[in-house]
Amino acid sequence: MRIDILSVLPELLESPLNHSIMKRAKDKGLLEVHTHGLRTWAVNKYGQVDDYQFGGGAGMVMMCEPLVNAIESLSAGTTYDEVIYLTPDGERLNQRIVNQLSLKQNLLMICGHYKGIDDRVREHFVTREISIGDYVLSGGELAAAVLTDAIGRLLPGVLNDETSALFDSFQDDLLAPPVYTRPADFRGWKVPEVLLSGDPKKVDEWRHEQSLSRTRTRRPDLLDEDA
Ligand code: ADE
Repeated sequence: MRIDILSVLPELLESPLNHSIMKRAKDKGLLEVHTHGLRTWAVNKYGQVDDYQFGGGAGMVMMCEPLVNAIESLSAGTTYDEVIYLTPDGERLNQRIVNQLSLKQNLLMICGHYKGIDDRVREHFVTREISIGDYVLSGGELAAAVLTDAIGRLLPGVLNDETSALFDSFQDDLLAPPVYTRPADFRGWKVPEVLLSGDPKKVDEWRHEQSLSRTRTRRPDLLDEDA
């Protein structure tokens, strides 16, 4: 998979996307992430990419011209399955959306700043708008990093244990069960007996029950079929 990310602050993306599992995904050639500084397409030699908003009001708006030139120039070399704008007023990200996006070949993510991007870019180029939660970040970069991480770890071959992503919280609309490691007794706090039983069927049953009860108490909305 290839992900291109368009941003006024591409430096913000460097660390989150170049360590741990994202690094492994890149090193194995399973995920290519290319960040692009929007000022490459600035409208003048001062690097301008934003301007005052029509109608007045505080806050700058990212201009059409640099964004459209950037999108068109990147699209000349890559056919994007989705052009995603990260924005607090997009659809709220969940595992279902991450799963869908992990099946695509090429994604372009646009990070907004200030008041956001000129709405004509959204209307004519953006195919999907995603929010990572009901709060406002100072820019879309961290949201793009979150989305890239969530997608990247699902690509086949990225995780060592091929099955482990299947047991993540949310993968089946249930939260993950509790986990323990050695020692089996720490300060008298004991690991549940069933996990030491060596009986995989019993362990599976126990984990499923734990997942259900955790979901019921912490996130009953996930069990609500209409949600
Ligand atoms: N940009 C600013 N806030 C955001 C959010 N919550 N999700 C996605 N992009 C954003």
